Amino acid sequence: MKSYRNVPPLAGICSPQDALREGLPVDECVRRLKRYHYAFKRLHQTFTARIPAEPIYELKMAFSLHAHLCAEHVGDLRKRVGEMREPPLGLDVVPEPSLEIFFDEILSAPTTEELLLGLYARAIQALQAALQEHMAATNPVVDQPSVRVCRLALLELADIAAFGSQTITALGLNPPSAQQSEWLRLLDDALAAAGGLDGTKDRAAATLTRYYSAKPLQFNFVPRRDQRFADPFNMGVNAEAFIYNPDYPPDAKVLMMFFKRLREIDVPEMMASIIVETKGKPWEYYRAMSRQLWDEARHALMGEVGFASLGVDWTKAQVNFSFSYALNTMLTPLERHGVLYFIEQGLMPKAGKRFEYELAQAARNPISMLCQDYDWADEVLHAHIGREWYVADFKNAAEAKNFGDQSWSKMFWNYSKWADEGLTQHRNWWPDVYLEYCRQTGIKPDEKVLAYHETYETTRADLKEVTGSA
Ligand SMILES: [Fe+2]
Ligand SMILES: [Fe+2]
Repeated sequence: MKSYRNVPPLAGICSPQDALREGLPVDECVRRLKRYHYAFKRLHQTFTARIPAEPIYELKMAFSLHAHLCAEHVGDLRKRVGEMREPPLGLDVVPEPSLEIFFDEILSAPTTEELLLGLYARAIQALQAALQEHMAATNPVVDQPSVRVCRLALLELADIAAFGSQTITALGLNPPSAQQSEWLRLLDDALAAAGGLDGTKDRAAATLTRYYSAKPLQFNFVPRRDQRFADPFNMGVNAEAFIYNPDYPPDAKVLMMFFKRLREIDVPEMMASIIVETKGKPWEYYRAMSRQLWDEARHALMGEVGFASLGVDWTKAQVNFSFSYALNTMLTPLERHGVLYFIEQGLMPKAGKRFEYELAQAARNPISMLCQDYDWADEVLHAHIGREWYVADFKNAAEAKNFGDQSWSKMFWNYSKWADEGLTQHRNWWPDVYLEYCRQTGIKPDEKVLAYHETYETTRADLKEVTGSA
């Protein structure tokens, strides 16, 4: 193959030698792509389902990102299969029973440690190996669109794997315990019985006995947090009532706004339950909702960064889970989505995201400005997702909004109930946080700000009676 004055031939894809590679017939290519698709789908489901009850904050955030990335690759793989085959594409078929056992076991892992080992030390690695193998086997010219899907997926899988292996080391899971190793052997056997994740190896004859997935799976959407969240039912500091009160200075409001952002941990916790419990939607629904879930996790990260920028220890603020707790334990998935939509509709007018951005501007806080700028932009997308995937189930937008409002009222805030049950005393933590901020930034505490003590007992987060985040 001779090219014009040594300009790279074949669009620069590969060498002429590689272009002569025997490659994979379309049938085989599609068969394999469907297995990667299945793996990404199960990973997406597992990362999502484990967000609420996973106590470790950093893992909640990482699961939110990894679920979003997996959802994107599911979408790409579906599209690629659809390019090569007419419907029905058979993308909802389980490609192999032992592969199902492999993923069911990981989804059902009872502890964080086993979950991490199953996900990052087995499933992600197996998927990486399969995609690399696909790229090595297929003809890079004739199957370039599939190669592209695999390459982009591998790029992000490498990030996911790096996070996983660092976490496994950090938590002392390398090497795993004897009991963990025994369970990991079941995963290995399941994969071997499936001929590997891509089904290209000889199938090992094995009798697989389900272990953690022997009982029907019961999802646990009751939120949990690690020790840094000492008082998760605390509703003793009303962030909105402070921010919207013109009597307080912008700098203290920015501090409160960083709390509001960090508190958004509760949105992924509640959205995860909607995504997992809502069945039978087009993939685009799960993709869009998972993107939004990750955005809300990013908003929490913005809050964490904000606290760090001021040198204030965020664990002094009581970052509660009262919102996700109440939603996940008291409402149906559609009602939860209704509440989310209702809150987000309230964030679009002047009093919402624009107000928060202008507040950051007034305080001349560059980190807060940047965060609020993007938070506002994200909200535009979320309002769109709400219209497309929530409102569509109702006669019109007004009815959809009304349903959300009613769902919110139905849940009422349990302020006194949680106090009566001894779950919290709704302690006012604001003075501690504000004083630390003053110390760190060398400013004299404002007596009025220091004395702030409005709770969520009677005022909702949209300041209508009793409040939320999105
Ligand atoms: Fe948000
Ligand atoms: Fe949002």
